[in-house]
Amino acid sequence: MKLAPSILAADFARLGEQVAQAERAGANRIHVDVMDGHFVPNITMGAPIVKSLRQVTRLPLETHLMISDPDFFLDEFVEAGSDSFNVHWEGNNNLHRTIQRVKSLGKKIGVAINPATPASVLEEILPDLDLVLVMTVNPGFGHQHFIHSMLPKIRRVRQMIEKAGIDCEVELDGGIDPVTIRLGLAAGADVFVAGTSIFGEAGGVDAAVKKLLAAASS
Ligand code: DX5
Ligand code: ZN
Repeated sequence: MKLAPSILAADFARLGEQVAQAERAGANRIHVDVMDGHFVPNITMGAPIVKSLRQVTRLPLETHLMISDPDFFLDEFVEAGSDSFNVHWEGNNNLHRTIQRVKSLGKKIGVAINPATPASVLEEILPDLDLVLVMTVNPGFGHQHFIHSMLPKIRRVRQMIEKAGIDCEVELDGGIDPVTIRLGLAAGADVFVAGTSIFGEAGGVDAAVKKLLAAASS
């Protein structure tokens, strides 16, 4: 399994230091939550953050675009150093085009589905994807509770991937902690985004990453 710390929960005044701590502790990629105040009711960060992070970590930078027009911003993020993109199925009338554009830029592509969106919408595009992101909270904010009714959907996505015989990761985002990571693993997910349970832990980033990794392997 792979761990993707979400910097949304980090202390931005110490961002570089906290990302370096996560890397040293065994995190596998860094998850950057981009929100535009339109696709979701919150504003976060843009390409300059990716550019700065690129200088301080060797980990892949995964860019989760919760924005209305992802195609307008792809070049900017690629130039800043994004290694992969998660774009939403919701609100994108030209998702196939977005996917092909990301691939043509030489980057990995994941498609995210919100809690109310069924796995079945992925059927035709699945062979084009490197990753499916099953949102386990409604996007827009960190520090929310894992929605347990997503577990059957996670199992369904994994079955669809197996049936198609393709190599595609299943990532979960929202409310991941030492308990829910185990539920997600059992349901077939293999990549876990974690914000609060890494950067919001009183014991520090190092201990938090190790706690999640230990829970996943126990
Ligand atoms: C939610 C974001 C998540 C969020 C996860 O819209 O996509 O990546 O930061 O945060 P936690 O781990 O606090 O639920
Ligand atoms: Zn995210």
